[in-house]
Amino acid sequence: MKSRIPIFLVCVLSYLFVVLPVTPVFPQELTDGSRLVIEAYPDTPSEKISRHIYGHFAEHLGRCIYGGFWVGEGSEIPNVRGIRTDVVEALKKVSPPVIRWPGGCFADEYHWKEGIGPKEERPPMLNTHWGRVVEDNSFGTHEFMDLCEQLGTEAYVAGNVGSGTVEEMQDWVEYMTYAGDTEMGLLRKANGREDPWKVPFMGIGNENWGCGGQMEPEFYAELFRRYSTYVREYSGNQLTEIAGGAGSDDYRWTEVLMRDVGRRMDAMSVHYYVVPNTWQKKGPATGFGEADWFSVMRKSLELDPVLQRHIAIMDRYDPENRVQLMVDEWGTWYDAEPGSTPGFLYQQNSLRDAVSAAIMLNIFNSHARRVKMANLAQTVNVLQAMILTEGDKMVLTPTYHVFEMYKVHQDADLLTTRLQTRPYHFEEGKVDRLHASASRKDGKLYISIANTDPRIAEPLEIELRGARASNIQGRILTADQLDTHNTFENPDQLKPQRFSSVERTDRGISLTVPGRSVVVLQGEIVDAP
Ligand code: AHR
Repeated sequence: MKSRIPIFLVCVLSYLFVVLPVTPVFPQELTDGSRLVIEAYPDTPSEKISRHIYGHFAEHLGRCIYGGFWVGEGSEIPNVRGIRTDVVEALKKVSPPVIRWPGGCFADEYHWKEGIGPKEERPPMLNTHWGRVVEDNSFGTHEFMDLCEQLGTEAYVAGNVGSGTVEEMQDWVEYMTYAGDTEMGLLRKANGREDPWKVPFMGIGNENWGCGGQMEPEFYAELFRRYSTYVREYSGNQLTEIAGGAGSDDYRWTEVLMRDVGRRMDAMSVHYYVVPNTWQKKGPATGFGEADWFSVMRKSLELDPVLQRHIAIMDRYDPENRVQLMVDEWGTWYDAEPGSTPGFLYQQNSLRDAVSAAIMLNIFNSHARRVKMANLAQTVNVLQAMILTEGDKMVLTPTYHVFEMYKVHQDADLLTTRLQTRPYHFEEGKVDRLHASASRKDGKLYISIANTDPRIAEPLEIELRGARASNIQGRILTADQLDTHNTFENPDQLKPQRFSSVERTDRGISLTVPGRSVVVLQGEIVDAP
């Protein structure tokens, strides 16, 4: 006779043995603050947060290259071989791991051979995407590689699929990376560079569903197959080939590419921009109200589900997790500053951008398994810039300071975190008040936290499991106004300050995270006996 186990017993046993052990120790209601559990057990395998997540993007757009990085050898602005010294020195302080160039939309109309050789012989070109300005091609391949060497950063070169030929892309890679005396190798040497450069990352087009050729994904997949065949590795150079990916939530693009050429690519990109209102009327970079603040917080947080869906598609076609996801353009996008050329995409950068950047970087960290690169759009004078320049003046933006505070996460081991937080309400909507990420490296613990709420300071109890932290130090970025920003006249309105209101508790760390702020904590970490 079959023995029957009463159903209620099954439920009780499953609750005891299955549900309870994985249920966090959070209370049902958070009445007195938020709680963050960090799994810091020494033996738990973890993902490394690729340093390339803290990458940059520099396009021939507005004053990013010309005026931003490049002033030319004859300029009175201090420079090394034409590249601004102040900008290079400032960027070096954030340890830039990679820089993507020459676009963006510009990449698919750039013909690299026009940007090499004696400057006076380089033909002028019309930058049709961005303001229809004429560029003299004085900043080309050699100047970009020089910039990378001055910064100590790796090169990510985006090739032209939209209006370029297979031969042109093949030649470019050979020109940059082949050591021997072929036509391309000799041409490079004749232009003053004996040794080949290393080019670790090569993009096969950009936004080919839009400015990069208005293609269907099936058509682009065929082109990717063809172009990538001729993008070869020479002289010990190891290339990661990046397929031009989707814009935001275009999951069909990702699906088709993974299905048709997933096995051929090393990586695929995705772009994600935060626009507070509509593309037609985005909203100002400063002088905005709480509705725009809330919208930026909400859309920054929505990056997470968007990435989850792209990653779920990739997981289906690539369960071995071989193909990397590169968010090679991301950032906030507002109306251009009044009085500036609209096509130059010049915008100010405020505390709001800092909190948004903190959220986005936390999200990239959390997807470290699949996301191996992210490139902020853009480095100087364009969109969510790190740096703004005007003539010989330079100012560091709040977003720059977040990159400086967050650089501790580069190549660190991601720690599993579980955050239970209270909401920030605005009108009918609500978003999480706190957002966090944690990592460890070389005996140090790093925790980065953003508070989206414009007013309310949030108490936070951090429980550290498997380890103890000591000598905890904090830094904070915050200001009185939601749109506080740095100007050339007032460059230090917003910069990181010491944050000492942090206490050690029996279980970990206790603090109150001020409203509208970014906090980064660091401490020594000792494995618990
Ligand atoms: O970053 C500005 C532009 O945004 C890039 O050129 C393009 O790829 C994207 O649409």
